[in-house]
Amino acid sequence: MASIVIMNAKGGVGKSTLTMALAETLAYYQKKSILLVDADGQMSLSLMMAPGNQLSEQRGNDLTLVGYMARSVLDNEHSDWPQYVMSHVSDVEDAKGIYLLPGELDLPLLEREMAAQGKISKTRAAARTILQEAEQYVDHILVDCAPGISVMTETWLRECDYHIVPVKPDFLAVSGLEYLRRFRSRNPEMGLAEHLGVIINMVNLHSTDDAIIQEHMRSDKDLKCFKNTIPIAPHLQKAALFSSEERMYITKYAGDVGTALRAVTNELQSLLNRNRKPDRVQSTLPPTNQLVT
Ligand SMILES: Nc1ncnc2c1ncn2[C@@H]1O[C@H](COP(=O)(O)OP(=O)(O)OP(=O)(O)O)[C@@H](O)[C@H]1O
Ligand SMILES: [Mg+2]
Repeated sequence: MASIVIMNAKGGVGKSTLTMALAETLAYYQKKSILLVDADGQMSLSLMMAPGNQLSEQRGNDLTLVGYMARSVLDNEHSDWPQYVMSHVSDVEDAKGIYLLPGELDLPLLEREMAAQGKISKTRAAARTILQEAEQYVDHILVDCAPGISVMTETWLRECDYHIVPVKPDFLAVSGLEYLRRFRSRNPEMGLAEHLGVIINMVNLHSTDDAIIQEHMRSDKDLKCFKNTIPIAPHLQKAALFSSEERMYITKYAGDVGTALRAVTNELQSLLNRNRKPDRVQSTLPPTNQLVT
């Protein structure tokens, strides 16, 4: 199992969209089971992945990442994280091995409390528990983070095995990478996810500017840019809207985008295989609703 945090200090580069798309592509083509963690108070990933009524119910019962962290970190209560997980999210037919620990709008308030009470190491321990225990249930964990580096983002960035950085082909996106590089050089003793690579998203295949920026990024070997890129595709906006009726993968990710996602996902899987960690025996994630009383 690999845990991967999807982050970029820069906003709007496609972190949440790519987290969803990578999970659905891994689940659909490679039959991988994935735990998604929505670590962004904007909740984009949760809104994209889960039926609205189920998500409302989940939030009403405080069964979100924020609920889990509040109970285990601030209230010092023992809290079983699988009870907070939604099963079989995703509106894609045949991409059913996807689970979601949903986000909540109150995340910034929680982070403020965690920092005020000096609970950073406890927060990291709570995240580590999820990552370690999830190994027995799923093939991969993908964590979607807010832009910038907040308490929550730093926690996952330090606890996950790898990070992937989506970027848009613009010079400011490249400056977001510099931020991450500086962050890495600070407090190296605190641990940090290994950089798996940069995924260049929203590429206009007909733009010479985009080609120049790509070349510029690829000349920096430390960035480890993925060979394949994701084209700019207006219909991806529609993919973000959760469909109450199941849809086919090739409908949701039609044309070039689907082909590119498959290529990027194959590249990702071979990078992970190269850095292979020992296989663990898996069991099925308990049906969460049965755990919630
Ligand atoms: N390849 C693409 N082609 C066209 N639109 C895209 C593509 N990737 C993402 N988008 C769109 O760009 C916008 C930003 O994407 P997204 O919300 O995934 O970015 P983000 O990095 O998660 O943003 P934030 O920093 O706010 O969390 C969304 O409207 C999304 O639909
Ligand atoms: Mg996002």
